Amino acid sequence: MDGIVARPQTDTPLAYEDGLRGWLDAVEKMGELMHVDGASWDVEMGAITHMMTEKSGSLAPALLFDNVPGYTKGFRTLYGELSSIKRIALTLGLNADYKQRSDIVKEYRAKMRNLTPIEPRYVETGPIMENVLTGDDIDVLKFPVPRHHEADTARYIGTADCVITQDPDTGWFNLGAYRSQVYDGKTIGCQITEGKHGRIHRDKNFERGQPMKVVILCGQDPLLFMLSGGPVPDGISELALAGGLRGKAIDVIRGPYTGFPIPADCEIAIEGETYPGDVLPEGPFGEWMGYYSDDTVPRPVVRVKTILYRNNPIICCAPQHKPVDETGLLKGIAGAAEIWRALDACGIPEVLGVWNHEAAPATRFTVVQIKQRYPGHSRNALHVAANCMGGAYAGKWTVVVDDDIDASDLGQVLWAMGTRFDPNTDIDLIQKAWASKRDPLYLPGNFNNRILIDACIPYDMKLKGTFPKVVDVSGGLREAIRTKFPNIPFPPG
Ligand SMILES: Cc1cc2nc3c(=O)[nH]c(=O)nc-3n(C[C@H](O)[C@H](O)[C@H](O)COP(=O)(O)O)c2cc1C
Repeated sequence: MDGIVARPQTDTPLAYEDGLRGWLDAVEKMGELMHVDGASWDVEMGAITHMMTEKSGSLAPALLFDNVPGYTKGFRTLYGELSSIKRIALTLGLNADYKQRSDIVKEYRAKMRNLTPIEPRYVETGPIMENVLTGDDIDVLKFPVPRHHEADTARYIGTADCVITQDPDTGWFNLGAYRSQVYDGKTIGCQITEGKHGRIHRDKNFERGQPMKVVILCGQDPLLFMLSGGPVPDGISELALAGGLRGKAIDVIRGPYTGFPIPADCEIAIEGETYPGDVLPEGPFGEWMGYYSDDTVPRPVVRVKTILYRNNPIICCAPQHKPVDETGLLKGIAGAAEIWRALDACGIPEVLGVWNHEAAPATRFTVVQIKQRYPGHSRNALHVAANCMGGAYAGKWTVVVDDDIDASDLGQVLWAMGTRFDPNTDIDLIQKAWASKRDPLYLPGNFNNRILIDACIPYDMKLKGTFPKVVDVSGGLREAIRTKFPNIPFPPG
């Protein structure tokens, strides 16, 4: 697999065990877990999370809801698991200290580059086998499945989920985060957009006139959700990547109906089957771009065959809404690391930072920071970032900036766009790009147009030193001031 090569593991393993349960203990110790009792499944949990996150500057806590009216105490939901950099760093086993926010992308990219994927290990049993429902006992509404947004007309059990599908040609198992509506206790949806791996697997099965087996994890180690919700190259299982990141194999049981690998420590796993032509209207659902922009359309449903769950299960939720939402950071970081991989793979030199800005939301506004080395370097970087698989889906703005601009600081990026960019020469457009119907401005045929902005100092001016000098406090003076006035609370940086 391109870019992920076998090298010795040198990084420290993740600082938690036992999947989501161990992760929650670690987050509690970090002071980033908020417990909420008594919120209803009907829009209250979604609204509380939205209100806690929208203006938090990526510092919102994770929210664990218990004592949901009408449900058994201990049957919980978790929202906003990855809405802070510290929790993402914990999950990926990265250092949470950074000079600029895109340093975490750099660290993640470096870790993935040195990663040896470790295939999952099959075990006989695990906590997920504590409860197994089949036949008449199957009822997904046994759990406090939320209706997340006020204009949603249904409850969704799968949002921060991992949908496991198998490529019928190669046997490869993919995990993707695809939403899942509840129709009744035994029937759920699975909305997979064109081009996503799960969709390709489903199309391949349906083209042969055969049903597709599927497992939907609705609560699991946040590491698996993070890998499932972001682009990962073809042919590699997120379970093996998670194993590589953890430094040891993920223990899985064999699903009793599907035979698929199911993490032994996950919270809820739904096994089912989806059949050609078996569709029901799906949506409306508050979409990731912040609008109710997707039509209610007939989509394949999943007929539930088995439900496995741990005692006191936790449904993981990530409904998404008008930015900034709980997923901007995780999607942004995962996508930026994949764009960085493509820039490296294409030989673009001196990439110093890549960041997807959460408010755009996330992958709609990508900034690449480079140290310019040759005329045309900035355009090279722009076109690769905008059209590689990690950057191509439903993007809108791609911007390239110089080394003195922090790609993850929107204020600095806007300054570069305001002063180093000429509208006449520094814009390129991409037409008929890979889009999404969640985009309110998608074009017929489900395309969109993109804008590429070169906000670097023109290379010849940089070379000749004719671009004006920046008004700034020098590094030496900054240091001297900090030493002389230790009590002034300067912000970090
Ligand atoms: C919270 C969240 C919800 C998502 N919901 C969907 C969805 O309903 N359908 C979909 O096709 N992609 C959805 N995505 C995006 C995919 O999970 C993402 O593109 C991922 O890379 C897909 O995996 P794949 O590349 O293996 O197909 C969601 C992502 C996140 C983070």
